[in-house]
Amino acid sequence: MLIRRPTDIAPSEITPQAQYLRRREFMALAAATPLLAGEALAALTGKPSPFSTTEALNTRQQITSYNNFYEFGTSKEDPAANAQRLKTSPWQVAVEGEALKPKVFGLEEILKLAPLEERIYRLRCVEGWSMVIPWIGIPLASLLKVVQPTGKAKFVAFETLLDPQQMPGQRTRVLDWPYKEGLRIDEALHPLTLLAVGLYGEVLPKQNGAPIRLVVPWKYGFKSIKSIVRIRLQETQPPTSWNLAAPNEYGFYSNVNPAVAHPRWSQATERRIGEFFKRKTLPFNGYGEQVAGLYRGMDLQKFF
Ligand code: MTE
Repeated sequence: MLIRRPTDIAPSEITPQAQYLRRREFMALAAATPLLAGEALAALTGKPSPFSTTEALNTRQQITSYNNFYEFGTSKEDPAANAQRLKTSPWQVAVEGEALKPKVFGLEEILKLAPLEERIYRLRCVEGWSMVIPWIGIPLASLLKVVQPTGKAKFVAFETLLDPQQMPGQRTRVLDWPYKEGLRIDEALHPLTLLAVGLYGEVLPKQNGAPIRLVVPWKYGFKSIKSIVRIRLQETQPPTSWNLAAPNEYGFYSNVNPAVAHPRWSQATERRIGEFFKRKTLPFNGYGEQVAGLYRGMDLQKFF
């Protein structure tokens, strides 16, 4: 793994200043939404969430320097190097489709919908690595309920910003742009499903999907779409970028399942970034108790 930083400066020497600045940025965002400032502070001081894992966190350096964000390049260090030009303010998210009250939300409006929570989740990438990340966000459900989904809203489609000027990866045809993902409505409304706006007590770094991204901890990481601008409630299952690219490799559900191998490699084990030995991958990434019921009666070999 290549980590871009001046080799003669230890991370411990450079992080505090950068963190201080980002913390100020996060507080400014919270201050723009006065009702939230208290909760934002609570999140920053580490209010524990019942949904959080107690496993050791990955470092901020690991979480922000080893990323997949194909809009900024296909190697792990590209997003940190190339995403900084992305303009994340102002930012809007259109929530549309099968809803009684479709609405275009400004980011600040979304932050007012629910108290910000810190959630420490495992993220398991389909490539066989994992991390433990302290996200800050609100449940996706608190956004969706505002627009009042109709009875026809069976699925939720998500789209990332389409802007090849700012996102050089979109000038190549490596994926079908904009990046698209989807969930079934019950998955989208599940309390574990988070809209993240920060991590490590700070505004979301751009390489991690600023200013707002999805986190679905029981699914492979690619379901957790970054830099979202559109959320559409719909009756039919939406196409997704990775399924379009390789339908036999990436299914719509993509629940973490050690029993279903990727056609080109096993999914039975994973390497936690920063560790040497591999560990066993858990069904639903360890969130089976909370989510297995969503799939009762489904053949998860077929619906992979
Ligand atoms: N979202 C967009 N828009 N583009 C991407 O390339 N990569 C996905 C997901 N979301 C991706 C994306 C993949 S493969 C993973 S593993 C996670 O983002 C990584 O999230 P992280 O960088 O915060 O760890």
